[in-house]
Amino acid sequence: MSRIPRLEDLGDVAGTRVLVRTDFNVPLEDGRITDDFRIRAALPTLRWLLDRGASVVAASHLGRPKGAPDERWSMAPVRARLAELAPEVELMENLRFDPGEEANDPAFVARLVEGVDAYVDDAFGACHRAHASIVGPPATLPSAMGLLLQQEVEVLLGLREHPKRPFVAVLGGAKISDKLGVVEALLEVVDALVVGGAMCFTFLAAQGHPIGASLWEPDQVDTCRRLLESAASRGKAIHLPEDIVGVDAAGEYATFGVRLPEGAKGFDIGPGSAAAFSDIVMDARTVFWNGPMGMFEDERFAAGTRTVAQAMADTKAFTVVGGGDSAAALAQFGLDDEVDHVSTGGGASLELLELGDLPGLEALRKAPNARG
Ligand code: 3PG
Ligand code: MG
Repeated sequence: MSRIPRLEDLGDVAGTRVLVRTDFNVPLEDGRITDDFRIRAALPTLRWLLDRGASVVAASHLGRPKGAPDERWSMAPVRARLAELAPEVELMENLRFDPGEEANDPAFVARLVEGVDAYVDDAFGACHRAHASIVGPPATLPSAMGLLLQQEVEVLLGLREHPKRPFVAVLGGAKISDKLGVVEALLEVVDALVVGGAMCFTFLAAQGHPIGASLWEPDQVDTCRRLLESAASRGKAIHLPEDIVGVDAAGEYATFGVRLPEGAKGFDIGPGSAAAFSDIVMDARTVFWNGPMGMFEDERFAAGTRTVAQAMADTKAFTVVGGGDSAAALAQFGLDDEVDHVSTGGGASLELLELGDLPGLEALRKAPNARG
């Protein structure tokens, strides 16, 4: 298998025009950027190219416009922020304004590579999408992964291939069905799995507990039962909450064990579970965390997620946080600088952990300058 070419493999870039695919899909509120993490994360690559005399044109998607220009998803706010951080960089309009991007249309690829000498992919968060700007240019242009993409791949594949043990994965979020593939893949490599978030209710139901009116996925109960059995048969623990915080049938704040009364809804792991999960994180040597433990946007239900986030900050383990909600939670608690690696990719980090490869990486390995 060819290796993925790096920036040095582009040769002398002075005087060349380089297209850099970035993931500037940042959260917006009323047209303002609420978190510029993804923009800042691309700067080392942009600087590397600029410092060597390349002229740089960046391209990204933003949101999910449906293949047509849509003011709400204009790149203008991103362009303004980028102009403060790297004024020399040119930024194209939202790639998804053209239906050719998601369709991986060769005609759209041809337009992207027109007048361009080399391609750099630094859009880790979008590398699981086989879209035109990700898989198209490396078919013909000398290509490389950027410094962000390189670091993401090293850290996440490192978890799969040589984690320090005990290796614990902490998973939360609403749906087990969204994460089934990665849960199965993680069970192969972790020593223990810790499950919080609404997905824990489907597991608790599989253990025969009444879960009241909590969010769950009835069609995934058999799957959860199978996962519990397969983990147990391999001597791996799946840790579930032992207490729950939420509201009772009257809508009042309440704490429960794992047997919820009729009409009650769980919105967070309880303090006992949070303490137990914290101990597991403290004792681990590698921890991967994806998905909040509860509805942390509501302060009444933030404690479980905050306790796990604090343990991620305090443990001596090598700590990796998958992008999306868990990264947002860390930032909200001011702990984002306290972990070893916060991934810029949500779906991409899970898919890389699950499959060990991504369409964007595969495309780079086939670039004309990739050596066997
Ligand atoms: C993300 O934010 O997950 C990436 O930018 C990919 O965006 P998408 O899920 O809309 O493809
Ligand atoms: Mg997404």
